[in-house]
Amino acid sequence: MNKETASVPVLEMQNVEKHFGGVHAIDNFSVKIEHGRIHGLIGPNGAGKTTIFNNITGIYAPDSGKIFFLGKDITGSSPHKVAQLGIGRTFQNIRLFSNLSVMDNVIIASNMDATYNMPQAIFHTAKYKEREKHLNDKAMNLLEIVGLQDKAAERANSLPYGHQRKLEIARAMALEPKLLLLDEPAAGMNADESLELVDFVRQIRDRFDITILMIEHHMDVVTNLCDYCTVLNFGKTIAVGTPAEVKSDPEVIRAYLGGNE
Ligand SMILES: Nc1ncnc2c1ncn2[C@@H]1O[C@H](COP(=O)(O)OP(=O)(O)O)[C@@H](O)[C@H]1O
Ligand SMILES: [Mg+2]
Repeated sequence: MNKETASVPVLEMQNVEKHFGGVHAIDNFSVKIEHGRIHGLIGPNGAGKTTIFNNITGIYAPDSGKIFFLGKDITGSSPHKVAQLGIGRTFQNIRLFSNLSVMDNVIIASNMDATYNMPQAIFHTAKYKEREKHLNDKAMNLLEIVGLQDKAAERANSLPYGHQRKLEIARAMALEPKLLLLDEPAAGMNADESLELVDFVRQIRDRFDITILMIEHHMDVVTNLCDYCTVLNFGKTIAVGTPAEVKSDPEVIRAYLGGNE
């Protein structure tokens, strides 16, 4: 990384607003995330966390405000464009091709940026074969990293829940994102699986030198993993800081932790 990119935040959101009818889902949301950080987004159900991801990834355009990725204005860009630029995500409700194999789920995701053309594909030219081999090797490599190499041939929907979440992360990594958005990766996991997830997400950050924004309800996961976090309630930011700082913030305790933990 050169000096110039080092000074530009990976993600910056400035005063982003999003309404759905009368619901003020995101109210004047701002955040700046530096390279290599793991930033947590926490808050009760309906606080606006997933809506923030949907605004970053182009599923919705914000009503107002700006979103910058590595200094480039991506406000209102299409989901395809945002993915190509280098933002990967997982979904709160797992979205896999459930009838395809584990391997094919990863291959399809990395094929999104295929550079060969139709005649090359039909005639199985050398370039096409080379590309297929590259995609297979790359998919297998990702499956090894998430620990699913032995499950490559199994159908995605035959995997236990925790493994499906890992497969979703492998898929999101297939396009080699610089920013990874994880929407409740520990949802439905037991205590051991969430601990394993903490190690796993940290390894992914270190190995791929990426930046991660993560929505998470499990406070132990946030505390173990996040450098900073933002706490939302009814679309408004009520606290920003290290996990230890926000955990002791009276407003956070009132709005969230007091009721849930
Ligand atoms: N597509 C939509 N249409 C209408 N309301 C929505 C839509 N998406 C989200 N909302 C509303 O916006 C608020 C924030 O939702 P969401 O971002 O999913 O919260 P969280 O992820 O923090 O649980 C909720 O009140 C939700 O009902
Ligand atoms: Mg959500």
